[in-house]
This record gives sequence, C-alpha cells and structure tokens, in this order.
Amino acid sequence: MPSAMRPTLNIVGCGKVGRVLARLWHAVGIVQLQDIVNRTPQSTATAIAFIGGGTPATLSTLRRADLTLVGSGDDQIPSLAAALAATAVPFDGTIAFHCSGALPASVLAPLQQRSAAIASVHPVRSFALPEKVVAQFDGTWCGVEGDPSAIAALEPLFAGIGAHFVTIASEHKVLYHAGAVFASNYLVTLLDTAVQVYGKAGIAPDVALQMMSALVRETADNVLQDGAEKALTGPIARSDAGTVIRQYHAIKESDALQGDLYRRLGRLTHRLAKRARGNRR
Ligand SMILES: NC(=O)c1ccc[n+]([C@@H]2O[C@H](COP(=O)([O-])OP(=O)(O)OC[C@H]3O[C@@H](n4cnc5c(N)ncnc54)[C@H](OP(=O)(O)O)[C@@H]3O)[C@@H](O)[C@H]2O)c1
Repeated sequence: MPSAMRPTLNIVGCGKVGRVLARLWHAVGIVQLQDIVNRTPQSTATAIAFIGGGTPATLSTLRRADLTLVGSGDDQIPSLAAALAATAVPFDGTIAFHCSGALPASVLAPLQQRSAAIASVHPVRSFALPEKVVAQFDGTWCGVEGDPSAIAALEPLFAGIGAHFVTIASEHKVLYHAGAVFASNYLVTLLDTAVQVYGKAGIAPDVALQMMSALVRETADNVLQDGAEKALTGPIARSDAGTVIRQYHAIKESDALQGDLYRRLGRLTHRLAKRARGNRR
C-alpha cells in the first residue's frame, strides 16, 4: 500500500499510455511523480516534457516508489519485470501494475516475489493520439485484475482522473481481451470486407466508405444504446432465406474466405434473431 497521502510513482516504460496517465495524475496532484525510465534518454526527455514533471532515470538510478507502472509494450513487460526485480530497489509494501489488456497481472510475478502487490489496469480505448486522450479521458472504463490490495489502492487514483474499474477474474483475462478484439479489431476487418464486397459491385472504396458512414454509425449507436437484439435488421431478422442464400453464393464465388465469413456470421446472426424474437414474445 502507498505509504503517503500522495503516493510516489515510477514509470518504467513511459510511452503513449504512461505519458497520458502521468500527465493526468500530475495535473490533479494525486501522485508524486518520481522516476521515468525509457530505453533511450531522448524518449525519456520527450515523456517528461509531455507530462510536465518527473525525473529522468535508468534501472540503476531508480529510487523506491509506492507505485511502479511497467508501461512498456506487452512483449517487454515480462523481461522488464524481471530486470526490475533484479535491481537493489526495495519493492516490499509497494504496488506494481501494467496496462496490458492481453497479459495477466501475473507476468509481474518477479516483483510479487519481491513482496510487491501486483495488478493490471487496462484502459479500454485507443491511445494513438495522446493529446486527444488527455482531453477526453474522463469516463474511460478499465478492465482490472490482480491482487485485491493493489486494485483497492489503484482504484481511487484512477477514479481521480475520471476512470471506472471493472474487475475481471484472472482466469478470464484472455476472454476479456478477446471481447475487445471483436469490438475493435474485427470490426475494422468486417468494415474492410464490406468495402471489398462493394468493390466487387463496382463501387470505389472512397465512395463505399461514404455510403457506409450513416449505416455504420446508426447501427453502432443502436447496439450501444439499446442492445444487439433491438438493433438487428436485414434479411436474417426478416427470415428472408432466399436473399441470404443468393448473397452467400455470390460472395463465395469470388472469395472463399469471405463466403465462409458470410455463412458463419449468418449462423450467429440467426442465433441473435431467434433470441430477439424470443424476447419480443
Ligand atoms: N496504445 C494503446 O492504445 C493502448 C491501449 C490500452 C492499453 N495499452 C497497453 O499499454 C501498454 C503500453 O502501450 P503504449 O502504446 O503506451 O506503448 P508505447 O507507446 O510503444 O511505449 C512503450 C514505452 O516503453 C518503453 N520501453 C520499452 N522497452 C523498455 C525497456 N526495456 N526499458 C525501459 N523502457 C522500455 C519505450 O521506450 P523507448 O521510447 O525508449 O523505446 C516506450 O517509451 C501496453 O501494455 C499496451 O498493451 C495500450
């Protein structure tokens, strides 16, 4: 647990996510920003300039802090945790956390073995444009998992910058992240597939994107506001089997994988339509 009212924070791996969180915490004065460590001194200096605080450091000059954010990319987190655990820095009574949605808190086990409490706090949003996220962070949801004492200590710090915690059982972390892959990455692939299919009908990609704009936004808004069952329209919802079969054959003729996707999504859509009809009874 942090020892002071304003816990000290070290960030080891201070890229887009680390910079945004640190700047927000620094601005509201919730944490005492301490050491910032990146791979290169230039990157550390850029992070400190963005945050408006923090002291450049390396693993060999790092001081003890109440909180340590291991904020590198996912692939580096396990080795960075091991490297941190091998330093002379005391970790007993401190909290170490990372922000990965894909990895469990347990990748910080080397620091837990040094008596730190560990957690993962995954803000569910894109940090591609850090300045924009700083301005719009309020209301961000975070999937959280790890030692209850670490979660309890981190919750008020994240709440202080407008974030909400949703606790996930450690064994469900993989499924949790798969949900985000469907909602974000696969949605992109699905929209790209739509553009390609429009392309086969002779519509240029830029025109297809404009044509899809109102449809995609309205559909997403309807799902987010009222749920998938109420938002579903189209041939499967209307039990228009002939249309579905004709579309399937037309798509699979030019691209077997897209045909397979259409068929499998059709089966899931059928399941959803049945659920929707059941709810209306
Ligand atoms: N980006 C997103 O939209 C997003 C959203 C939610 C969660 N996350 C999670 O947040 C975490 C950080 O992602 P990010 O997008 O902020 O990554 P990022 O922008 O690529 O930044 C990673 C930072 O880690 C530093 N680093 C890498 N290896 C290091 C090492 N061995 N020692 C010290 N520093 C090291 C890099 O330093 P250099 O600059 O010197 O190379 C860089 O500053 C990841 O776990 C990711 O899954 C990301």
